[in-house]
Amino acid sequence: MIVLKLGGSVITDKNRPETLDGEALARAADAVADAVTDGTENLVIVHGGGSFGHHNASEHGVSTTDGTHDATAALEIHGAMKTLNQFVLTRLLERDVQAIPVHPFSAGHRDEEGRLELPTGQVETLLGEGFVPVLHGDMIAHAGSGATVVSGDELVAELARDLAADRIGLCSTVPGVLDDDEAVVERISAYEDVESILGASDSTDVTGGMAAKVRTLLALEAEASIFGLEDLESFLAGSAAGTTIE
Ligand code: IPE
Repeated sequence: MIVLKLGGSVITDKNRPETLDGEALARAADAVADAVTDGTENLVIVHGGGSFGHHNASEHGVSTTDGTHDATAALEIHGAMKTLNQFVLTRLLERDVQAIPVHPFSAGHRDEEGRLELPTGQVETLLGEGFVPVLHGDMIAHAGSGATVVSGDELVAELARDLAADRIGLCSTVPGVLDDDEAVVERISAYEDVESILGASDSTDVTGGMAAKVRTLLALEAEASIFGLEDLESFLAGSAAGTTIE
């Protein structure tokens, strides 16, 4: 089973509110459609927010830890993510990928400690029936905090663990984790390997940048890759792409 995250900054113009990067999304959808045609089965897609969701979340002071009890605010953030999800679905359906949305806000929750609980029975059943489930960063019920943001990366980690993923791919705006000379780091097996080179994300991002991604992926069993859009096709074809995190 493959869990693929399409970074929000890849498929949207992150610096302009609610603006799609239509060309990038079409390219990503082409790569997924080609892989499915070539026999890739058991693919789960998760997409981030980019310019959808993050701006709304910061306007309302909502993050993965700071919640809201205002339903209108929660629905505004959730609505922005559903709008983006609809664009993603449309592009996939147009290419005959049997994509079905799964909205985390209607499926999971966080406990008092902030731990994410995401029932994966529906995703597993959809996979078994030949569909491509498409999840997204979203709002989520949070015990003691109202509703908080759940990032696509958290969803990837949870899905990979629960469904024993073989491979995880994070399609990002960079070709991998870059060292101080802007060269792609090929392999990371411990956080100390890259601690000195990982900075924070520049744009409004309520869910953390590359450092958080690497930490999350290191904690998982499955082999993970961080790569750019140009490597999506080869990742889906089973080749090494960008940075491999083991
Ligand atoms: C964004 O999801 C979720 C909301 C702000 C509601 P992500 O945090 O996974 O999005 P990107 O990929 O970093 O943009």
